[in-house]
Amino acid sequence: MDDNLLITNLFSIKGKTALITGGATGIGKMIAKAFVKNGVKVYIASRNKKNLEETAEELTKMGPGVCYSIEANLTSKEACEKLAADFQKLGNEKLDILVNNAGLVGINAPLTDFPEQVWDDMYNLQVKSVFYLTIACLPLLEKASNKPIDPSRVIITGSILGIGDGQLKFSQVRGACSLPYCSSKHAVHSVAKNLAVHLTPRGINVNILAPGVVPVKQYLHDMHDVIITEIPQGRTGNETDIAGAVIYLSSRASSWVAGTEIVVDGGTLLNFKISDDYIKNL
Ligand SMILES: NC(=O)c1ccc[n+]([C@@H]2O[C@H](COP(=O)([O-])OP(=O)(O)OC[C@H]3O[C@@H](n4cnc5c(N)ncnc54)[C@H](OP(=O)(O)O)[C@@H]3O)[C@@H](O)[C@H]2O)c1
Repeated sequence: MDDNLLITNLFSIKGKTALITGGATGIGKMIAKAFVKNGVKVYIASRNKKNLEETAEELTKMGPGVCYSIEANLTSKEACEKLAADFQKLGNEKLDILVNNAGLVGINAPLTDFPEQVWDDMYNLQVKSVFYLTIACLPLLEKASNKPIDPSRVIITGSILGIGDGQLKFSQVRGACSLPYCSSKHAVHSVAKNLAVHLTPRGINVNILAPGVVPVKQYLHDMHDVIITEIPQGRTGNETDIAGAVIYLSSRASSWVAGTEIVVDGGTLLNFKISDDYIKNL
């Protein structure tokens, strides 16, 4: 058999370098763990120094890859450029995989009294910074690219809420809405597809990881019974679901995959409806 077709080669990410925003917790940490377990040198970046240091230590102990951390508050162009510069100052001349994953999760509020600041915070972090960080990392990504055989990669954590026209039922409980979150995810899916237009010819594949509900916070565990009524497969997502998708999106296996959404949701998108609870509370 041709060696290129062996899973150990086709899906290998060993020896690559990755930068993951929001990599100390939740889905970002799942991605960092999947990478470290498969021999990647990982940098996680976010605001909370304690979380960053604890996760970097925990994952490095697992190996065989390593995990380092960089503090960053990614709400401005300047902060994105600083993160790219800090990454370089740590001795990195190239970047194989950039994962734009940081996000503001679980901020729901009443439709008629929605805090204006949330709109700004959501769009600054989940839309604007994704663009500026990718641009700031462009020279490093171009240097890493082995185009067209194994391009460098940008993975953007979007959401099924960036695809479906609607909101999940559990987020509408007691009349609350998650409109800025959903619309910013639609926006970042568009940013990703437009970045792909510009970057694919430069040897950089941009794709979207679009997860359904992955319970990384207590309120998601508390709402488990409501949440799974919307998931045809009858279970929420976990680290192996996330790992499978990001390893695929980072390896030779997806060299020819650009500007697309990988939906990992147990079929939730098949089940979008308006919540009965929302109607009841109108
Ligand atoms: N969990 C789900 O069900 C689900 C489903 C679909 C999509 N997603 C997406 O998955 C991504 C990760 O979310 P999560 O669910 O794993 O929740 P999470 O654990 O709260 O992760 C969010 C991460 O973003 C970082 N972050 C927040 N503000 C930041 C800022 N200003 N600058 C830099 N980093 C910042 C946080 O770290 P610091 O606090 O240290 O800054 C945190 O590590 C998000 O994009 C979210 O929209 C999640």
